[in-house]
Amino acid sequence: MRSYKAKAVEPIHLPPRDDRGAALDAAGHNVFNLASEDVFVDLLTDSGTGTMSDAQWAGLMRGDESYAGSRSFQRFREAVAEVMGFDRVVPTHQGRGAENVLFGTLLEEGDAVLNNTHFDTTRAHVANQGADAVDCPVEAPWSAGESGQFAGNFSIEAGWETVEEYGRDAIPVVVLTITNNSAAGQPVSMANVRETAAFAEEIDALFVIDACRFAENAHFIKTREAEYADAPLADIAREQLSHADAITMSGKKDALSNIGGFVGVRDADLFERCKQRAILYEGFPTYGGLAGRDLEAMAVGLREAVEPPYVQERVEQVATLGGLLAERGVPIVTPTGGHAVYVDAAEMFPQIPADQFPGQRFVCELYREGGVRAVELGSFAFPDADRPEFVRLALPRRTYWREHLEHVAETAATVREKADEYVGLEVTWEPPMEELRHFSAELEPVA
Ligand code: F0G
Repeated sequence: MRSYKAKAVEPIHLPPRDDRGAALDAAGHNVFNLASEDVFVDLLTDSGTGTMSDAQWAGLMRGDESYAGSRSFQRFREAVAEVMGFDRVVPTHQGRGAENVLFGTLLEEGDAVLNNTHFDTTRAHVANQGADAVDCPVEAPWSAGESGQFAGNFSIEAGWETVEEYGRDAIPVVVLTITNNSAAGQPVSMANVRETAAFAEEIDALFVIDACRFAENAHFIKTREAEYADAPLADIAREQLSHADAITMSGKKDALSNIGGFVGVRDADLFERCKQRAILYEGFPTYGGLAGRDLEAMAVGLREAVEPPYVQERVEQVATLGGLLAERGVPIVTPTGGHAVYVDAAEMFPQIPADQFPGQRFVCELYREGGVRAVELGSFAFPDADRPEFVRLALPRRTYWREHLEHVAETAATVREKADEYVGLEVTWEPPMEELRHFSAELEPVA
C-alpha cells in the first residue's frame, strides 16, 4: 500500500508501434536520443526524475535567492546536519560537482583511489586529477542470480592487494559507494562500513562515502543485518555516515530532488579548501550553483528520505518489478538492489556476441515493443571493461504505479519470447571520448 496519493499528474502516452520503430531509427538505436514525449515508461535513470512532495513544492516558495548567506542555505545545512551528521557542507549543482570539488582538492597526479565500485562520474573525476580509480568489489554481483545479501560490499582483501601494488602513500582516499550502483545497485552492510573505515584509517587515507542512495542502503541494513532489526531507520542512516570523514552526495537521488548535490566534511581545513574550489567551479558556498529554492527542496527531501514508509515502499517497488520480470522468465540479478532491476542480456541473447551489444539490443526492443526506456550498462557503455551485459531498469522515486511495472514486465516478456530472432548492433558514429560513447553514439543492426 502506498503512503501517498497523487496531487499533480503528467500525461504520458504510448506512440503507435510504427512510430516507435521510426523514432528508434531516427535516434540511431540509442535511446538517449529519443524525445521524452515518445517514451511511455521511462526507466532510464532514478536521478532527478522522481516526484517531489507537496512539502517540497511548498519549500520552493520559501527559496531565498540571496547570493550570500541565504536562509535557504541555513535550512539546508540544518537538514544535512540532522539527517546525515555533517555540519560542514558545500552545496554543488549535482553529485559530479561534489566529486569535482572534493577530489580536485584531495588528489594529485599518480595517486590511486580505492572504491567498492566507482560510478562513471566518480571514476572520471579521479582520472581527471591524473589519479587511478581502482575498484575493490566483492565478487558476488557480477552474474545474474548469484549475488548475496550485501553484494555491494568493499573487499578489504582487494584493498590490501592494491596497497601492495601502489604503496600506502599513493592512496589518499578510500571511497565506499552506498548502495553500489555499478554493482547492480547492491547494498553495503554496516559491518563493511566499519571494516572499510578501519582499513582507510590503517593506511592513513581519508574515508569518503558516496552517499547518493544512503537511505535505501539503511533500509537493507535494517532488514538484513540482525543487530539493526529494531533500530530506527533514521538512526541507521546516520550511523553509516558517522564512520566517514567526508561524503559526496547527489541530491537527485536520496534527497528526492530534481537537481542538487553537496560535499560534507568534518575537517575545518579541508572544508575551507573545498569552499575555495567550489567558488571556482560551482558558485559561492552558500548556493553552490543552485537556486535557493533547490536547497529548500533538498532540505525537505532529505528528511522525507529517511521516513520508514517512504523508503520501504521504494525498495519494495524495485523488488516487485524484479518479481514480475522473474515470473516471466526474464533473467535478472537477485536479490534486487535499491533503485533498479538489472537484466542479464547475455543470458537473454546468447547468439549476440559482446562486441555486438546484446544489452543495447534489449534496450532497443523494450522501446519498440512497449515504449519502455532503459539503459545499457555493458560492453556498449563500458568499452574496455570486462563486465556483464547488464541492462538497468531504474525506477524514479514515487512516480510509477503497479500497472506501469506490469506493462514493463509484459514488454520484457514479449522480447524474451522472440529472443532468438534478434541480431546484434554495430556502431556507425561515436564521439571522440570512448568513455562517453553510450550517451550519444549511433548504431544500426549488423548485416
Ligand atoms: N555517484 C553515484 C553512485 C551515482 O549513481 C551518481 C549518478 C553520481 C555519483 C553522480 O551524481 O548525476 O548528480 O552528478 N547516477 C545517475 C544514474 C546519473 O543514472 O545512476 P549526479
